[in-house]
Amino acid sequence: MEMTEKTVAEWYANHPISAPHILTKLKNSRGSLDDVEPQELYPFDQDHYDGLDANARLADNTRMKPGDSVIDVCAGLCGPARWFATERGVQVTGIDISPNRVEGAKKLDILVGMQDQVRPILASAMNLPFEDAQFDAAVSQESFLHIPDKPKALHEVLRVLRPGTRFSFTDWVMHTPLPDDEQEQYRQRFACQSMLSIPEYETQLGKAGFDVVITDDVTEAWGDILARRLKMYEILDAEAERAGNPSKGDEFLKMYAKFVSDVQQRRIGGVRLTAEKPQ
Ligand SMILES: C[S@@+](CC[C@H](N)C(=O)[O-])C[C@H]1O[C@@H](n2cnc3c(N)ncnc32)[C@H](O)[C@@H]1O
Repeated sequence: MEMTEKTVAEWYANHPISAPHILTKLKNSRGSLDDVEPQELYPFDQDHYDGLDANARLADNTRMKPGDSVIDVCAGLCGPARWFATERGVQVTGIDISPNRVEGAKKLDILVGMQDQVRPILASAMNLPFEDAQFDAAVSQESFLHIPDKPKALHEVLRVLRPGTRFSFTDWVMHTPLPDDEQEQYRQRFACQSMLSIPEYETQLGKAGFDVVITDDVTEAWGDILARRLKMYEILDAEAERAGNPSKGDEFLKMYAKFVSDVQQRRIGGVRLTAEKPQ
C-alpha cells in the first residue's frame, strides 16, 4: 500500500459511516438484528451524495442487466453494491483500500444474507487483483479524489472490463485551479489527493483507452445536497454538545462550510462520467 493510501485508509478508519455505527442504529430502531432485509440498510450504508438515485443513474448509464458481473471500485461498506445486487440482479465485487470498511462490508453482507451476490475485497484501485476482461460494468462514487495516480486507476478499470462495456462514476472536480494552500486544506481535511477539471478527466479517460459517452456536470445539484448536509452536521453538533458529548469541532464545520461555498460558487464541483471500452 502506498503512503498516501495508508493515510486514506486511516482517515476512513475514523469515519462515522461504519459497520458498528450502522448495527447500533439498526438495533436501536428495530429492537433486534434478526431477519434484517437488505432494504433496511439503505438509509445507513451509502457514503456518497444523492443516495439511491445516484446508484440508479450509474446502473442505467452502464446498462447493467440481471446476471452481469459488476465491479464497484472503492466500494466502501458495499452499500451501493448491495443495492445493485438487490435492485438490478447483478453480482458485485467491491474493492476498497480500508480494512475496516471491507470487514464491515462482509459483516453487513452476512447480516442480510447476501454473501453470494456481493464480494468485498481489500485491494487498491491502482492494482486490481483480477484477470483482464472479467467484468460487464464498472462503477465508482466520490472516491477517485483520494487516489494519488488517477491515470493508473483508470487504466486498471479499463483492463478488467470486457470490450464494449462501460464505466460510470462520480467524483469531485476543480472548475478553476485552487491556490496550493487551499488544495493542501482539502488534502488535510478530506484526504483529497487531487482534483482534475472535467476536460482533464475526459482527456485522461481517452488516454487510458476509453471513449467518453456521457458527461454530466452535477455541481449545481451537489450545491443543494451539501448545504443540507452542512445543516445536518450543525444540528448534530449542537445536539452532541447539549448532551455533554465532544462536538465535531468548529474546524470541521468551518472547513465543511468552505467546501459547500466552493461548490456553490463553482470553484469546485462534481461530475458523473460514463465511458465505454471500445470493442
Ligand atoms: C466516499 S467513500 C465512497 C464509498 C462507496 N463508493 C459509497 O458510495 O458508499 C470513498 C471510499 O474510497 C476508498 N478508497 C480511497 N482510496 C482508495 C484506493 N486507492 N483504492 C481503493 N479504495 C480506495 C475509501 O476507503 C472509501 O471507502
